[in-house]
Amino acid sequence: MNALPPFSTVILACDAEAISNAAGLILRGLPVAVATETVYGLAGDATNGSAVAGIYQAKGRPGFNPLIIHASDLETAERIADFGNVARDLARRFWPGPLTLVLRSRPDSPIAPLATAGLPTVALRVPAHPAMQRLLAAVGRPLAAPSANRSGTISPTCAEHVRTSLDGRIPLILDSGPTRHGIESTIVGISGDVVRLLRPGPLGEAELGIPLAPSAGGLEAPGQMQVHYAPTKPLRLDATSAVDGEWLIGFGAIAGDSSLSASGNLIEAAALLFERLHEADAQHLPAIAVAPIPAIGIGVAINDRLSRAATPQETA
Ligand code: TXA
Ligand code: MG
Repeated sequence: MNALPPFSTVILACDAEAISNAAGLILRGLPVAVATETVYGLAGDATNGSAVAGIYQAKGRPGFNPLIIHASDLETAERIADFGNVARDLARRFWPGPLTLVLRSRPDSPIAPLATAGLPTVALRVPAHPAMQRLLAAVGRPLAAPSANRSGTISPTCAEHVRTSLDGRIPLILDSGPTRHGIESTIVGISGDVVRLLRPGPLGEAELGIPLAPSAGGLEAPGQMQVHYAPTKPLRLDATSAVDGEWLIGFGAIAGDSSLSASGNLIEAAALLFERLHEADAQHLPAIAVAPIPAIGIGVAINDRLSRAATPQETA
């Protein structure tokens, strides 16, 4: 119910039929492992919150880091985020390729809030690998894809690594042989004319041909995020009922003013988490309360984000 079913994981050579199978699975909300030019990614429909929750679930991530969104081309990417001149210039020079741009999301962005962990920005890249490109074309939607490995293990550079890490947790691995770069894409954040290095990768200052400012929080370990979503109002956890002035986000038997999942489904709760928090923040009431969420499976990640959202933002 709350967990993805156990899968008997299949590895298929990445031909036209396998791509079409993979696209079918993704459109049904399931994650599929696919090669990119950096590492193998675990790709899911970035516009479907439950599909994104399924990616975290398969990886066993203890928290929801924002994921990199893969688009088929610059034109598609421009429907997701606002590109200034600096961003467009970098995109034209290095896409498709191992460069990820963190940009402000457009108000009408189709990306599920869970994929960006509720942040106002989105990490975007157009991948060069033909497998990921064919998959993007077959699905016709942007794909969220973190590295295709269990949380806390090293990134996979061949199909066998993916199987070792995720066997039984995902339905399909598309095998395209070893990846070219073997490390994740370079991530830069752009504000105005300043380009900040958020994660070092295959493209450095020399290749990019522009000065890179260090990230404000110093060097981040890949996969670590310093910035996280927090509502503007006080947030109380494990609330079984609302006190005066609180908007209660319910779960299961606790109905609340809104609910993460009336049926107590943790995948649904994960998919709706940031939408419900934003909605609560927009109410006239001065405070927010959230019903207890069981810390099992993806519930651990939900509780992690809730407790971060409940504490004041550390300054980055
Ligand atoms: O090479 C790659 O980029 C691989 C392949 C599969 O494409 N993908 C990958 O994705 O590494 P992922 O989801 O594991 O990378 C997530 C990292 C986060 O840990 C964070 O550092 C950064 O991307 N990130 C995502 N959204 C961000 C945002 N809005 N602001 C700052 N950093 C962000
Ligand atoms: Mg990773």
